[in-house]
Amino acid sequence: MHKVINQEIKQIISAYPEVGRILEEYNIGCVPCSVGSCLLKDVVGIHNLDPEKEATLMYRIEKAIYPGRNVPKPVVDASKKSAPKKITYSPPVKKLVDEHVLIKRLLALIPSVAEYTETSMKVDKDLILRCVDFIRNYADKYHHMKEEDILFKYVDEKAEVIQIMYKDHDTGRGYVRQAVEGAEKGNKAQIKENLLAYRELLTQHIKKEDEILYPWIDRQLSTTQVGEVFQKCNAADASVGDALPRKYEKFIIELEEKFLQEVTK
Ligand SMILES: [Fe+2]
Ligand SMILES: [Fe+2]
Repeated sequence: MHKVINQEIKQIISAYPEVGRILEEYNIGCVPCSVGSCLLKDVVGIHNLDPEKEATLMYRIEKAIYPGRNVPKPVVDASKKSAPKKITYSPPVKKLVDEHVLIKRLLALIPSVAEYTETSMKVDKDLILRCVDFIRNYADKYHHMKEEDILFKYVDEKAEVIQIMYKDHDTGRGYVRQAVEGAEKGNKAQIKENLLAYRELLTQHIKKEDEILYPWIDRQLSTTQVGEVFQKCNAADASVGDALPRKYEKFIIELEEKFLQEVTK
């Protein structure tokens, strides 16, 4: 088993597809991951399962790989119900989680914006460009930059989980460029397709950060490092001032009023 836990997960899953199915039961989504160069031991470590769950998962994986081997079954106390783990974040990471909330409010509005674009006589270019302005200046510059320039610098940036985050940020920028091009040309299908693709990408991206990546980073930070990250994030926020998040929150409220009223009409 020692050899296997140090192997890349994609290799293991392609040789033993049952392992992919077992991981999915534990909400460990390695099968759809495009890279797959994480080692099995890191995959399990990153998800921070409780010890009993982890022991059972490793037992099942070992049985799937070596069906004839006599693997001792982990002792699980059936009377002890494992309560869902409550995630707690360090203060700077909590601030990033809170910023996701405003981004998620925009993501929730995107289907309405796409539908409105499709059914309007003429493309509302100003509306699309205002959504893009939010994405570029709040989601990307204000939020993603703190991840890329500060938080991710405190862990191994070559780790696959971080590389995927960088790739997602880049893919998102590509969708936004395409949506802008669609708005300039008045191409409704191009706007809709790219805004919806951005929504899908960022929804999964934020879920991965909130539930897996941020807790994984927090577990690696010392108290001194938490203080440093906090200070650097505060300095980054101070450099743009309070007006920026306030401006974008106001924009989201306006958009919610416009589209929620449309729905209740
Ligand atoms: Fe991110
Ligand atoms: Fe994020």
